[in-house]
Amino acid sequence: MMNAVSKKISFHDFQPEVESFRQAVLDGLSRKPKQIPPKFFYDETGSKLFEAILEQPEYYIPHIERKLLQTHADEFAALIKPGAVLIEPGSGSCEKVQLLLESVLPAAYVPMDISGAFLQQSACDLGQQFPWLPIYAACLDFTQKMILPQDVPQGRRVVFIPGSSIGNFEPLEAQHFLAGIHRLVGKEGGLLVGVDRKKDPAILNAAYNDAAGITAEFNLNLLDRINSELDGNFARDKFGHYAYYNGHLGRIEMHLVSLKAQQVTISGEDFRFTAGEYVHTENSYKYSPDEFINLANAGGFKHQKIWSDNHHYFSIYFLEAY
Ligand code: AVJ
Repeated sequence: MMNAVSKKISFHDFQPEVESFRQAVLDGLSRKPKQIPPKFFYDETGSKLFEAILEQPEYYIPHIERKLLQTHADEFAALIKPGAVLIEPGSGSCEKVQLLLESVLPAAYVPMDISGAFLQQSACDLGQQFPWLPIYAACLDFTQKMILPQDVPQGRRVVFIPGSSIGNFEPLEAQHFLAGIHRLVGKEGGLLVGVDRKKDPAILNAAYNDAAGITAEFNLNLLDRINSELDGNFARDKFGHYAYYNGHLGRIEMHLVSLKAQQVTISGEDFRFTAGEYVHTENSYKYSPDEFINLANAGGFKHQKIWSDNHHYFSIYFLEAY
């Protein structure tokens, strides 16, 4: 289905969402340990809270990445090559790509996001700022399927994944995701990807426990979303935010913790929580360059170039399909 927003912006809805949210929640809360996948954070409120996380001083990723994108935009453009179609899974506010557009001058931009209303708004805002840019917004869950709208122009396909969103996958899933990108872009395609690195746990822990409490709010918003969309009765003051770096597995883990023994009803089903029980809501893997390059190779990409900040907190990789 497609409805034209303007001459240059089209919106393509590939997504049946509510049923899979219900299924994921009922299934995830029946497991031991309880878990809910992080993609469900991003309802409209969650997407706005995530934008606020990006402004927190402790959350270093966007600050470093923004600077790298600004500083090296011309190098990225030379590697992406003129006339490419730029595809961004999990595009959110479409903010970072703006740092590339004037240098890269792509033939088209394909933002993909799970949050339809947010995607439409972001695509429209982007279209206002870059009226020369054809935008094909695709509302989909990129962890399930990545589809290009039919009328996207020909030309080299380059995927852009900033913000270390690839860290949400288990390493093997990340490899499969990269293989899926390879299928999408083909042998002539490329990938520009931002990846968070292993570092002092104190810095990692602070980044996911910001002093303003925005990350906690983002985590707890999941309970509000379940209450409103799935007829749940979570009392959000009876749950807490818990995030820490698991050095053994090389990942930040986020959990919601039940502050007392309690029972919650969701869509007519009852769930018991013991005092201190966790609901695992997110993993955020951190990779050394060696680890990530191995992963990329296994997914069908070869390493071209890597850029990092002085502290080696975060890296951007350009990879070519092979
Ligand atoms: C969007 C997955 C990159 O893991 O750093 C930020 C999400 N969660 N703070 C990350 C997130 C809590 C973010 N990614």
